[in-house]
Order: sequence, then structure tokens, then C-alpha cells
Amino acid sequence: MEKLLIEGGHILSGSVQVSGAKNSAVALIPATILADSPVTIDQLPDISDVQTLCRLLREIGGKITFHDNTLIIDPREMVDMPLPNGSVKKLRASYYLMGAMLGRFHKAVIGLPGGCNLGPRPIDQHIKGFEALGAKVTNERGAIYLRAKELRGARIYLDVVSVGATINIMLAAVRAKGQTVIENAAKEPEIIDVATLLTSMGAKIKGAGTDVIRVDGVDTLHGCRHMIIPDRIEAGTFMIIGAAEGRELLIDNVIPQHVESLTAKLLEMGADVQVGEDQILVSKSRGSLKSADVKTLVYPGFPTDLQQPLTSLLTQAVGTSIITDTIYGARFKHIDELRRMGASVKVEGRSAILSGPAGLEGARVKATDLRAGASLVIAGLIADGITEIAGVEHIDRGYDHLMEKLQGIGAYVWREPLLDEEVRESLKEQE
Ligand code: EPU
Repeated sequence: MEKLLIEGGHILSGSVQVSGAKNSAVALIPATILADSPVTIDQLPDISDVQTLCRLLREIGGKITFHDNTLIIDPREMVDMPLPNGSVKKLRASYYLMGAMLGRFHKAVIGLPGGCNLGPRPIDQHIKGFEALGAKVTNERGAIYLRAKELRGARIYLDVVSVGATINIMLAAVRAKGQTVIENAAKEPEIIDVATLLTSMGAKIKGAGTDVIRVDGVDTLHGCRHMIIPDRIEAGTFMIIGAAEGRELLIDNVIPQHVESLTAKLLEMGADVQVGEDQILVSKSRGSLKSADVKTLVYPGFPTDLQQPLTSLLTQAVGTSIITDTIYGARFKHIDELRRMGASVKVEGRSAILSGPAGLEGARVKATDLRAGASLVIAGLIADGITEIAGVEHIDRGYDHLMEKLQGIGAYVWREPLLDEEVRESLKEQE
């Protein structure tokens, strides 16, 4: 068990290469279960969520190799093995095994998903979709049992716009009989990426990226080669780092359209952001940063996954800023930690209210979830002195070689083993 240490206050410059998108990766890997020959995925991020999913696919009989960010999955000998416990509990995206295994085997047993603790995260819309396609779904001792004699296309209206439910229903529907229509579908770029992979595998999908997706079922799907999209949240995290401490920080391998809502916010705050074709150059504002009001929304609105990282930057803005999370109203576990570092911020309902600028000081803090971790890293880069961040395993779930990438742009950041008493503290908290 390790902690991350950061000595703040250094100017960051040079270039950073964005990795493949975590939230695509965790859906693309389960999607390969639906093929009847090997699938190759290029540019996958080297993160622990990807490793956990590879372990799960090996458990059900998949043959997998992962070298230089290229994953080859041979799904031919996979079986419909129940996965009620173990690694499935480690990541939220294990719910995609439900749609993919249901689609291929017409049955699946998957433990209720774990992942970041952001308050209640129901999966009722996923289940509503599976049932509409003809599956019987039950919850038995913390695992979801899905069974279907056959899957038949259906018209499904999502009551809540959900990335997970949209993708999961696509996975279950691509090999169903007849047409499935998903209405009020989510429009995130990761959904288009999954639809692109499935289409290369032989699926018939129209409308991915709009709020109505039509899937015409096919009998079989075949292997293919797919290149994952860049991670817009990782790109956004580095853009915020650039606005905090950057001097011409070049963020390479970005689809600028995917981060437009953040670009607009950073410009509004006074940061210098120059957008190229697949690169973005960010520098800290010459004057003081202006305060801003931000509300997270479904894509193309401001992403909830950048709410926590942006909060750290807002501690440096002059005046009062308000950041409201309409997607996850309890995604505020980073706030107490930021306060420990000297931020002036309070939570009211679904909003964090900040007054700044605050002089942040290095402190011992804890990442309780992935993006809280990113937020503390940004605060650590800004703060005077040394910040020690425990809970690094959360950061490793979703950021590919974050420490090395930060070192590459001039940050003073390193890892150290947890002290015995810190290990005891951390184990006590997990009980
Ligand atoms: N919701 C329901 N019922 C459902 C599904 C969702 O009420 O059946 C609600 C959720 O509680 C939430 C909202 O709908 O309030 C949106 O949830 P969504 O299903 O879109 O989220 P998700 O698919 O579980 C993905 C990402 C999250 C990201 C959200 C929102 C993955 C594996 N996770 O979660 O990523 O925050 O979409 O964009 O793709 C992260 O990367 O740190 C992360 C948490």
C-alpha cells in the first residue's frame, strides 16, 4: 500500500499524452464476449479497472494478452460461469458483464457492482431494459440473476438518462431477434465508441450519440480491430492542471469537441486555452482567476467526473464560486480534505460554495474515490509545501501512469509505502 507525495508550487510545462478512455475501455472489454472470434483493442489505458476486467474475462474462459496497450481477447471458449463475488465487486462497470453475457449466453449471474462511492447508484434502468428484451431478472443474496429463453427487440424509454443503462441495453440487444429502440438514450462519446466497436463486429446500430438508438439484432458477431477514443476526463484533468500551474502545457491526443464545456469554463475564468486539431495548449492566467458558477449535466454539459478536479482550481478564484452536481448529489467527499488544506468551501445540498482565493498548504489527505483523488492531486500541485495523499489505489483505477505523466511536465511527485500505522488506519476504515 502506497501514498502519493507532491511538493506544490512548481510551474508545469512540456507535453502530456492522453491515454485511451477509461469509461470506454470498461465497456469495450465486456463487449468482446459477444464475438465468436478474437477482438483486438488498441490504445487501452494501463489502469487497474482494465486489469480487473481482464481477470474476470479470463475467469469465464477468455484467452487474453495485453502488451503495449493493445489487448487481444479470444472469446471462443468463454462459458456462462456465475460471477457472484470476487473481482466483480471491485468495479462498478462489472455491470456491463450482465448485458454482454445475457446477449451471448441468455443467462448471467453477476454480483452487484462496486466502484466509487458517490452516494446511491441504482441500476433499475439497466434492469428495466433487460426485462423489456425478455429476461427474467432477480436479486438473490447480492447478485443479479438474469435468464432468458430468447431475447426479443423492444422499445425502451429510459426514465433517467444513463450512460451505463444505454450501453448495457445495446450489449444485450445486438444479438436479440428484431429491432430495439432506446429512447432518451445518453449521448456520451463513450457510447459512440462502444457502438463503433459493435458495428465493426457486425452489429447493426443507428443513432449512437443521439437520444434515440436503433439496434437491429443479428445472429452472430465476429472479431475485429478497434482503436479506443482518448480519455476526455484525463484530458480535462490536465487542462485544469494547466490552468492552475501551467506555462504552455500541451495536452496531446484530445478530441477538443469532447471537452468544450470545460474549455468554455476555463476561458471564462481567465485561463489561456488554445485549441488545436487534436491538441490543447493551456497556461495559467496572467492575472487573477475569476470565480465561476458550474453545474454538471449529461453530455454535452459539464461532466460530473470533472466537478471534483475543477473544485480545486476554483479555490484559487477571486470571489464566490458555486459548483452544483446534478448527476451525483453526494459527490463531495473531497471537500473535507480540501478544507484541511486551507480551502474555504462548504457543501449545501448538491452544491459546493467556495470563496477565494485561498492559500492552500500541503497536508495529509485521503482520496476516497477516483476523481476525489484527482482533485487532491491538483490541490497538492497548487499548495505550498508537501501534500501526502492516501488512497492512491482509487487513482490507479482510472488514471494511466499519472505520477510519471506529472513528472514528465516538471511536477515534484513521488510514491512512498504507507507507514505501519497508516496501513492499520486504512484497514480499520475498510472494515
Ligand atoms: N441512474 C439511475 N438508474 C439507473 C442508472 C443510473 O437512477 O439505472 C442515475 C444515477 O444514479 C445517476 C444518473 O442516473 O444519478 C447518471 O448515471 P449513469 O448511469 O449515467 O452513470 P454510470 O453509467 O453508472 C458512468 C461513468 C461515471 C460517470 C457517469 C456520468 C462508467 C463506468 N462510469 O457511470 O464515471 O460519472 O457515467 O457520466 O462509465 C468516473 O469515471 O469517475 C465515473 C464515476
